[in-house]
Amino acid sequence: MNSQDLLTPCYVYDMALLRDTIEAIKAEIKEHDNYFVHYAVKANANPNILRCISESGLGADCVSGGEIKAALEAGFPAKDIVFAGVGKADWEIELGLDAGIGLFNVESIPELEVINEIAGRMNRRADICFRINPDVGAHTHANITTGLAENKFGISMSDMEAVISASRQMDNIRFVGLHFHIGSQILDMEDFVALAHRINHLQDQLEEEGINGVKIINVGGGLGIDYNYPDSNPIPNFHSYFHTYKNELELRPGQELHFELGRSIVGQMGSLLTRVLYVKEGHVKRFAIVDAGFTDLIRPALYGAHHHIELVKIAADNTSESAKSSSPTPLLYDVVGPICESSDVFQKDCPLPPLHRGDLLAIRSAGAYGEIMASQYNCRQLPHVLIINEA
Ligand code: LLP
Repeated sequence: MNSQDLLTPCYVYDMALLRDTIEAIKAEIKEHDNYFVHYAVKANANPNILRCISESGLGADCVSGGEIKAALEAGFPAKDIVFAGVGKADWEIELGLDAGIGLFNVESIPELEVINEIAGRMNRRADICFRINPDVGAHTHANITTGLAENKFGISMSDMEAVISASRQMDNIRFVGLHFHIGSQILDMEDFVALAHRINHLQDQLEEEGINGVKIINVGGGLGIDYNYPDSNPIPNFHSYFHTYKNELELRPGQELHFELGRSIVGQMGSLLTRVLYVKEGHVKRFAIVDAGFTDLIRPALYGAHHHIELVKIAADNTSESAKSSSPTPLLYDVVGPICESSDVFQKDCPLPPLHRGDLLAIRSAGAYGEIMASQYNCRQLPHVLIINEA
């Protein structure tokens, strides 16, 4: 397609990179028939992406009834779907039980009681893992840290024995394991080491209390990607991630180890393409005003997240000397969107070749938590999507 015809803002998804990323995961876990990876659908629920992941044999980690429906439609077998989330509504629990999903990750006793009651009414039994809050901090943005005692997620470690015992009194519940998740965009393997050691300690504690039958340990997701150099590191370091758990976590005989990876699977395969609408020379700043805004990609505005931005195509009618030069001297631009809020900034002082109206920019590493978090604020349209390198 001629890039002049491309409707922007537009997410472009590279399916070849997605396939290579999944292969890299499978290569790391192939020797471990007790390792299971579930894709965290919350990162990107585009149907083409879900279909590709389901065909690869990974499971799905869902946090809403809508995600369960999307996963089933994309072909994930129900038994390979896990349902997590701090506030599951009754209809979502019914949907999960009716479809026969593999597991519920349960975050509180009141939730457990409701699942037990609904399962009884439906004549089903729910296999459940308890999400335990391990009080392990992750070196990442405060808004995406989840494993601290102050966060709303999970059951506190000191209540663990009591909730397991309570679940064993319930007719329609089968306790099968423990679930953890400490946060997202984690690049320091020491954070995962800390989680593994905490789990070892908790397993010792349970055994001392005579509590056995923990079939599944689920360590959640969180592996980060390289937002600064997406071309140098298109595939995350799965080797050190899986090896960290292999070396540090003391699984008991027969235990399964589950992972819920989102960003590391889909982050690098997506870019947000946007056109320069206007270049505005301010008194202290030079602005590139583009047609994408935080309605299309909210991460910079919400978390102060960095995404590498590059010029991919100069406008066809741009005949300026600087545009013709192969390596023009970069200028610093604040790349900003059209939304009526000061936080609608993709990057401040971003070095780019001299820009002109119509130039096409790529905001990289936008495959995870991009399109799926888009909104229609300001009555804007949702972004377009272009799939490339389909099999
Ligand atoms: N499992 C649980 C229980 C989670 O809460 C999450 C992410 C994942 C797995 C997947 O984590 P990942 O592998 O993608 O790091 N919108 C934020 C990220 C929020 C993550 C929420 N939970 C962002 O754009 O950075």
